[in-house]
Amino acid sequence: SASSFRLLVKNATQVVLVCRNGEKYLTRDGMQTLAVVENGSVLIGHDGLIKAVGPADIIESQFKGAKFDNVLDASGMCVIPGLVDAHTHPVWAGDRVHEFAMKVLLSFYSICFNYCILYYMNISLSLCVREVSILTSKHLNTNNEALSLCSVVCVQLAGATYMEVHEAGGGIHFTVSHTRSATEQQLLDGLQSRLERMMRAGTTLVECKSGYGLELDTELKMLRVINSARNSLPIGISATYCGAHAVPKGKTMEEATQDIMAVQLPKIKMQIASGELQVDNIDVFCEKGVFDLNSTHCILKAGKDMGLNINFHGDELHPMNSAHLGAELGALAISHLEEVTDDGIAAMARAKTSAVLLPTTAYILRLSPPRARDMLDAGVIVALGSDFNPNAYCCSMPMVMHLACVLMKMSMPEALAASTINAAYALNRSHTHGSLEIGKQGDLVIINAPRWEHLVYQFGGHQELIRYVIIKGEVVYE
Ligand code: NIG
Ligand code: FE
Repeated sequence: SASSFRLLVKNATQVVLVCRNGEKYLTRDGMQTLAVVENGSVLIGHDGLIKAVGPADIIESQFKGAKFDNVLDASGMCVIPGLVDAHTHPVWAGDRVHEFAMKVLLSFYSICFNYCILYYMNISLSLCVREVSILTSKHLNTNNEALSLCSVVCVQLAGATYMEVHEAGGGIHFTVSHTRSATEQQLLDGLQSRLERMMRAGTTLVECKSGYGLELDTELKMLRVINSARNSLPIGISATYCGAHAVPKGKTMEEATQDIMAVQLPKIKMQIASGELQVDNIDVFCEKGVFDLNSTHCILKAGKDMGLNINFHGDELHPMNSAHLGAELGALAISHLEEVTDDGIAAMARAKTSAVLLPTTAYILRLSPPRARDMLDAGVIVALGSDFNPNAYCCSMPMVMHLACVLMKMSMPEALAASTINAAYALNRSHTHGSLEIGKQGDLVIINAPRWEHLVYQFGGHQELIRYVIIKGEVVYE
């Protein structure tokens, strides 16, 4: 009897395999010469895996007489592997649109300027914030919002950094208080709609962090929400416990570390063992004023001993020696790295610890972007992520690739490899994801353009450019 398959995508102008020899990652030279088949087809079986990929005429004669549940004629279109987003914070309540708006609302500037002067004259920030909030609260829903907003604008106008916003009670702390009081259903609704937007932009595998709870119950709530999304949506999810995303208000770093080590991690370990939770990675925000190198080491090591992959925030705002620590612990990935040293880069290259670069963060915080070229030249495995979070609200890997090219001087093939095979490596999934090779999962993006590079070149509007998104051979968007 004739064999049957779930999906045949035929006659695509280009099929970008990314790699073809089972590579688990690519470094600079391999990234510059991606494997591409001109006029190609892809065949996906009922198990959701790729059964054949290559020149259209060969596949046609090889599978003559076979039955296909679905055939897509991709003439004039291009096929790439499903995109992999290696770093997101998508579970939260309470947006931070005010933090952004204050950068553009000129009418507030003159009011706030005076208070910034007070601030510089050492008049307490909280007093200054309270006063400004009274002036501006009529524009806002609640006095609390006004307070948070004004603390942010005061410090931003004073040329403050992300950490000063954080210390003034904005940033992560704002999101933590909203996430703690949200119900599980509210968080799940928010997560599902964000993941759907990501899928619509071509992401088929995404890393999702907890980290807006900073105490056991809310961290568990976030991890359960991630698990529910995994069971209710086709997108692939790699779940990360990030209980060390900030030191909760009212605690010291030592107390927070102790709580994670003695309370949170043991409970999570039990729930993983009983099958209640699936957690893949452990993360810590290793930063001056957040978790120092010692605490980071303790927490990551404990996570590793539980079988989690190490994938953490390091060397973002200050050089912390995070890269050395990650290399020493056998971390799979370190994110950010805006401030990594040359030695740190060399250590990561030796240890095959991938660098997850996040161009949205540098863009939104006006930081100098991570030194992608130096990392590539040193042989580091460079991956990309959106860093989707209430500070950097970007669901789109095509946008991230565009920013990587413009801000970090990556080539378009490098950006695509960093968003497919290398991002899959950062999540320990490059044996199943990240390239179009026989036996891998049938996750594809079909682009309505004569060359795949249009996806990077055209910024914004990729809803029109992406014709189909396919996960395990099922069309999830068209
Ligand atoms: O990766 N740097 C720390 N964490 C996030 C930001 C989280 C937030 O601001 O809510 C990041 O950029
Ligand atoms: Fe992050």
